[in-house]
Amino acid sequence: MLRRGIVLAGGTGSRLFPMTSAVSKQLLPIYDKPMIYYSLSTLLLSDIREILLISTPRDVPLFRELLGDGSRLGIRLEFAVQQRPAGLAEAFLIGESFLDSAPSALVLGDNVFYGEGFSDHLSSASRRGVGATIFSYPVQNPRDFGVVVFDEHGRATDIEEKPEKPKSSSAVVGLYFYDERAPRFARTLTPSARGELEITDLNRRYLETRELYVEQLGRGFAWLDTGTCASMLDATNFVATLQRRQGLRIACLEEIAFRKGWITKTELAAAAARFGASEYGAYLLELPLFM
Ligand code: TTP
Repeated sequence: MLRRGIVLAGGTGSRLFPMTSAVSKQLLPIYDKPMIYYSLSTLLLSDIREILLISTPRDVPLFRELLGDGSRLGIRLEFAVQQRPAGLAEAFLIGESFLDSAPSALVLGDNVFYGEGFSDHLSSASRRGVGATIFSYPVQNPRDFGVVVFDEHGRATDIEEKPEKPKSSSAVVGLYFYDERAPRFARTLTPSARGELEITDLNRRYLETRELYVEQLGRGFAWLDTGTCASMLDATNFVATLQRRQGLRIACLEEIAFRKGWITKTELAAAAARFGASEYGAYLLELPLFM
């Protein structure tokens, strides 16, 4: 069965108040496009074309207005509401019927990934039929993340959520691939001390049976999370610097869909027309000339 995707784009965004007092952080810009484009692009690059976007009751209508039903990208997009930010693993309770026993990938709506070879990492995670695959990345502040510990063969031996005394500096990033058992396992979880269904507890279910695989993203790779004003600015500057240097856009959804053959040249031109005089629109218009 084809893998299906979930983008979790709810939350409070309290670290970005007052910017997020009236709108989801995932609708705020990272340079030239809404934050949600970056996480969505990760699923598209994984060849996932059936996607559920979960957000707050307030924001779901706005995401729907922004993205429609996905047909403009040659994908199928559905929407669901998370009433309260009750934890990342709740995505699998909300998304259980959408997933319909398919394997899945979950991406957090505020994560940005960029680096050579990313598509290879994604395909090797996606090809794995049984178990779960998570991704680790070295960070300076492991206390703020889920942290994974490895043995000498590079196999995960432990994962801890925001440990006071981290046993490694490898953070677990906001992208997770699961086999079809994820909703079933999620149903057995109980809320943590902070009242959330923890994704770390779901991952531990796979770790216990040695079915948790970790793809290590190295230092040549960029994983940016955009939950604070400073990290949003860093991400904006990063995207602006690369795009201006290369003339290629990061996380341009229409470009990915076109390169994958999911939309035609005519549909690409229609998207360009919709974005009119913006630089983004001009990029789409010129794209076929440079391919
Ligand atoms: P967080 O950054 O942990 O939380 P937040 O976005 O509410 O921000 P803040 O800490 O500033 O209040 O969330 C990580 C991502 O997961 C983000 O994209 C929001 C999303 N999320 C949900 O959609 N539902 C949830 O229940 C939780 C905990 C997070």
